[in-house]
Amino acid sequence: MSKKFYITTPLYYINDVPHIGHSYTNVAADVLARYKRLAGEDVFFLTGTDEHGQKIEQAAKERGETPQQLADRVVQNFKGLWSRLNISNDDFIRTTEQRHKKAVTAFFLKLYENGAIYRGKYEGWYCIPCETYCPKGQVEDQKCPACGRQLEWLEEDGYFFRMSAYADKLLDYLDANPEFIMPENRRQEIVNIIKGGLKDLSISRSTFDWGIPLPISDKNEIIYVWFDALINYITAAGYSEDNERFEKLWPADVHVVGKDILKFHTIIWPTMLMAAGLKLPVMVAAHGWWTVEGKKMSKSSGNAVSPDDIISQVGVDGYRYFLLKAVPFGQDGDFSNTALIRQVNSSLANDLGNLVSRTIAMVNKYFEGNVPAAQEAQEGDNPLKETALRIIPEVDKSMCRLEFHNSLISIWELIGECNRYIDKTAPWVLFKEGRIAELGNVLYNLLESIRFVTILVSPFIPGIAETIWTHLGMEEPLCEQRLSDLEWGKLPESGRIIPPAEPIYARIQE
Ligand code: MSP
Repeated sequence: MSKKFYITTPLYYINDVPHIGHSYTNVAADVLARYKRLAGEDVFFLTGTDEHGQKIEQAAKERGETPQQLADRVVQNFKGLWSRLNISNDDFIRTTEQRHKKAVTAFFLKLYENGAIYRGKYEGWYCIPCETYCPKGQVEDQKCPACGRQLEWLEEDGYFFRMSAYADKLLDYLDANPEFIMPENRRQEIVNIIKGGLKDLSISRSTFDWGIPLPISDKNEIIYVWFDALINYITAAGYSEDNERFEKLWPADVHVVGKDILKFHTIIWPTMLMAAGLKLPVMVAAHGWWTVEGKKMSKSSGNAVSPDDIISQVGVDGYRYFLLKAVPFGQDGDFSNTALIRQVNSSLANDLGNLVSRTIAMVNKYFEGNVPAAQEAQEGDNPLKETALRIIPEVDKSMCRLEFHNSLISIWELIGECNRYIDKTAPWVLFKEGRIAELGNVLYNLLESIRFVTILVSPFIPGIAETIWTHLGMEEPLCEQRLSDLEWGKLPESGRIIPPAEPIYARIQE
């Protein structure tokens, strides 16, 4: 039986249209999901929408809609964009679905039964856009320390989750599992917060009603939106519904999140799971934030970059490639159209596109499209084979650490090596001099390297990879390839190449 791999994205609030920041999280998670499928793992990839809470209720009111109408309308923007971006999620969860309400109710009752929930009083500064209380010591001028917006003073008489009781256990877990928080430099930040002392968490609301009703209250109270939303990760795995499935899927292998919501996933969520007696996720990976010309992207400042505008300019694969190559996962990045076009022209049109077109054109010209025979190489005699075999473990290591840009750098080393190999071996000279066996060998090595490149880049640029695969004339579909197929010499010598009618990736005009 193959190893399971359960990967999630955050659930997106439906008061906003998706911008490049949102799409970054989903593209990164998609690339990892596709890579794990390539590695032969049994992948379950979950994304979805976060539809409850005060923020959504307010947004609906402003538009003269019910919150459910707003959610039903906006969720289509997310689903549509994910499909255009080739996101290969296996499930899409909405927190207003019945299956989720059932799981949240069961989870709440479990914690209540375990004595982890009690009734009490709380007052403090609340940030509606972040849907969270802010520690009193950090509040200045009634502004949210995280997003800078106006806070509201709330006094609640309601239910609390005994989060403080799990601080030591959580620190022990972080200690014993150094890879729980990625990248490593974010770990200390979380450790400091926990060491600074955890407060119990207010998990019921009574001043508005767009949420899941509290199962133990007759006072029209609802469950706090973050407490509700985090549970989605177990709802979709079958919690309280399908034990066998839940046992197989849980815990999640990686929650991919933005740095702004790392705290919720590495403090609130694990303590909730501890209180329920459930296993903790293996890894929470936090990426940085995208800004535009140094400024935070937002609808109100009108500077949110629309993914569809970029897609119409550089295509889906150009967009996916740029997002993961331009900024190392974990770091912040500033979006620039000039950098976008420069990057895709140089990497996709020049390096990769030219390699494929030149090689295919030569196989066509010199061998009428037939894959030529390879020659036995002496040890150390085939630089392409050496590079191809060297980069496989490098790519794997980078992928498992979500260092996507490093994986791309490794793959592009092979592409660069191939382009240099063409210049060095000068196949046109070999042809002129009648050295046909040598020429065949050179072209076989190039085609075989392109097969390696195509399989390895397929998680990043699935559309382009599919096109190259077709031109290589491969019989087995690309989606059935596995990393184990990356054995040198597997390209059948009897194959036929199909010359492309147009470039694999056309240069974009600046
Ligand atoms: N609904 C919560 C998550 C609940 S998960 C159980 C939420 N939603 S969100 O829509 O505000 O953000 C979703 C994701 O988008 C987060 O990972 C966030 O980091 C990411 N991004 C939103 N804007 C972003 C940028 N400008 N840049 C990069 N990612 C950003 O939080």
